[in-house]
Amino acid sequence: MFTVNKVGLVSSFLHSMNVGDIMGIRGPMGNSYPWKNLEGKNIVIIGGGFAFTTLRASIIYMLDPANRSKFKDIHVIYGARTPGMLLYRDELAEWEQRDDINMHITVDGTDDPNWKYNTGFVPTITEQKAPPADDDTYAIICGPPIMIKFTQPVLDKLGYSHDQIIMSLENRMKCGIGMCGRCNIGQEFVCKDGPVFTLEQLNKTPREY
Ligand code: FES
Repeated sequence: MFTVNKVGLVSSFLHSMNVGDIMGIRGPMGNSYPWKNLEGKNIVIIGGGFAFTTLRASIIYMLDPANRSKFKDIHVIYGARTPGMLLYRDELAEWEQRDDINMHITVDGTDDPNWKYNTGFVPTITEQKAPPADDDTYAIICGPPIMIKFTQPVLDKLGYSHDQIIMSLENRMKCGIGMCGRCNIGQEFVCKDGPVFTLEQLNKTPREY
């Protein structure tokens, strides 16, 4: 499934297409989450805004009946600006009902009197809801830079070491195959070597993400 936010020329064109129209796609490219290494671990998913698209795919993977027993506790902290900007609301409601995943949905603010979840920014909700780190707990983060900037110190405070923090970057890309140099952070090509890096790896690069 593709989720396309209508923000520019290409995405607007995609929104104008009709069922049955043909489009070409190159991919998949780059690396993926290190699922084999994460087996047997508690997983804390932290996301904000449209970055939740990749995290949704990860949640679906972990909740698949063939995979769920491979992971321990799953926590999801997902924030949007308003209730109307939350993606995949049907799935969120379904996951809320399950007892094998802990959902912590939040919005920056709302005047909806029926809002029954959290109100507050993702870093604040992370501080309140994320389990403290132990050797078996890993955090997967994807979101806007400002969210990452303020969530990282919270995870530090909760005791997560930087190899326990896995980030998926969203740098602008053109070629997708390590040729154009559009996506670099230091020596790393986000398109080819990433987009998934541990914070420990990113600490060795300039903060261009
Ligand atoms: S997008 Fe061209 S090098 Fe990464």
